[in-house]
Amino acid sequence: MCGIIGYIGKNPERILLEGLKKVEYRGYDSAGMTVCRGGEFITYKEIGEVSSLASKVKLNEQFGLGIAHTRWATHGKISLENTHPHFSNNCDIALVHNGIIENFEQLREQLNLRKIECCGQTDSEVVAKMFDNLSISSLRRVLKNLVGSYAFVMLSKSGDYLYFAKNKSPLYLSKGDDCVIIASDPSCFVGYSKSYIELDDGDYGKISLKNTVIFNKNDEKINKEEKLLDFDFLSEDKSGYEHYMIKEIYQSRIVLENLIKKYQSVGLKSKLEEIKNFEFDRVYLVGCGTAYHAGLMGESFLRKSFNIDIFCEVASEFKNKNYSIDEKSLCIFISQSGETADTISALEYCKEKGGKIVAITNVEYSTIAKKAEIVLPIFAGQERAVASTKAYFAQCTLLFILTNYLKGESYEKPLKSLSHNIDFGDDNILKKIAKQICNYKNVFFIGRGNDFITAKEASLKLKEITYIFSSALPSGELKHGTLALVDENVLVIVVATDEKLFAKTINNVCEIRSRGGHLVLVTSLFVDSDVEKNFDSIIRITNLPNTLMPMQTILSLQKLAYFTALEKGNNPDKPRNLAKSVTVE
Ligand code: M6R
Repeated sequence: MCGIIGYIGKNPERILLEGLKKVEYRGYDSAGMTVCRGGEFITYKEIGEVSSLASKVKLNEQFGLGIAHTRWATHGKISLENTHPHFSNNCDIALVHNGIIENFEQLREQLNLRKIECCGQTDSEVVAKMFDNLSISSLRRVLKNLVGSYAFVMLSKSGDYLYFAKNKSPLYLSKGDDCVIIASDPSCFVGYSKSYIELDDGDYGKISLKNTVIFNKNDEKINKEEKLLDFDFLSEDKSGYEHYMIKEIYQSRIVLENLIKKYQSVGLKSKLEEIKNFEFDRVYLVGCGTAYHAGLMGESFLRKSFNIDIFCEVASEFKNKNYSIDEKSLCIFISQSGETADTISALEYCKEKGGKIVAITNVEYSTIAKKAEIVLPIFAGQERAVASTKAYFAQCTLLFILTNYLKGESYEKPLKSLSHNIDFGDDNILKKIAKQICNYKNVFFIGRGNDFITAKEASLKLKEITYIFSSALPSGELKHGTLALVDENVLVIVVATDEKLFAKTINNVCEIRSRGGHLVLVTSLFVDSDVEKNFDSIIRITNLPNTLMPMQTILSLQKLAYFTALEKGNNPDKPRNLAKSVTVE
């Protein structure tokens, strides 16, 4: 993954650091920058987050050209030698890279034959070493040898241009009044420019304060249209919250209001209508991680209303399953970032087979949005915490909107009732349970029906930011194997909000209790005192019709994971080993 940024103008160190902070969601194993002033390179590299780099960088207001990088390690360990920028053999050219060069071993062997050695193990350094000068023709020559995905920004000691290239990794250019910025994410342009250029796969070129030169994949010189930088309620700060994660959980309320309002517009209703008019006989929902869980919820919503085949699949497994896809297949791809490589790959596969491609995404300029025929935005605003919270809430809400629209039923009325009754749980109880969770090495979440899907998402959230082993399973499955693990050292969190399924779940609760397991209940239902006795604690949430409970129940469970991460002393916004945007398969 990784985030990259290039800059020309005054104050390069400060602006590069600001930009790195904005793309840090793409990885935070190490960070580095190179600034060129007066024909000399000044380079900084640090292991860990951008804040470690920032503490070492000497700010300088004077004009300069610079590039910077925040890394999510793929090839090569987390070390200073593997931290970008990387340099050409004569050290005159610096390069930052996001993506994976698949043939880098062969390229390295070719370099070795020329007695050119790399200092580290990264694929990116191999590319840097392939340059002996920086020009459009040398860039073109190097690109012709690469197999894989890349967004590069490069500079040389002698030039006043930044060079760039893009293939399957995002890259954007922008010109402000006295500056140029190139970045993995247009959020880096906010405050410096009002428009930006979106590069397409195969594009490459160079940019200076005065001049922009872009070529396409056929080596033709091209002009690209500028897009307006329009970040709807993009909030840069934590608005008084300690972390982005908790701020984003609470933003679910605004996101819901926003969705209700936006999906009243003629434009969005016409997209829903286009899906309704499409004569499909099968529906596929595809995503990864949290987005996959939203897909499972969508599958459940749609199955209850339509008597056709509806499948939800993890994106990375989609192509292995031999699903039958044709022009009657409605293929819905769910992705907060819109850049997830596994999801893109499944999307391309369905597109080739003639399926109708719908994207549910938070980023309207993303790759997935661009590749889809119909885009249904979730309008959740930028999600910064790696653990997805408000996006999941929004994805489930949107799938509820879509299902009701296809059925010809109102979605506004029920969603307004969710908005009036939205319940984020009781902080005192959640904090008390969070403390208890820290005493366990193993946590299981169980549920039936939609509550099982909520349990899966809650379990992912807990393990992702607390590093406590956690697994979710249907309540009824426990006795088919996993019950063997249950003793007094195990905590089971039971999600039970469906009256019809409650009694059966309580049977499973008794099976756990009689083996010494500890239990927490999450429910919106009335619980009589005999049943209550089985539980160490109960998280009570406001009851709503069953179809709305998935959006309601997850909020307390997201907060439970958050409070547990705090108890463990973890930074919930940046869990170890992960990144926000997963652009490798
Ligand atoms: O950007 P996407 O929605 O495609 O991302 C998919 C997953 O990587 C993501 O949901 C991940 O599972 C989250 N970190 C979970 O909180």
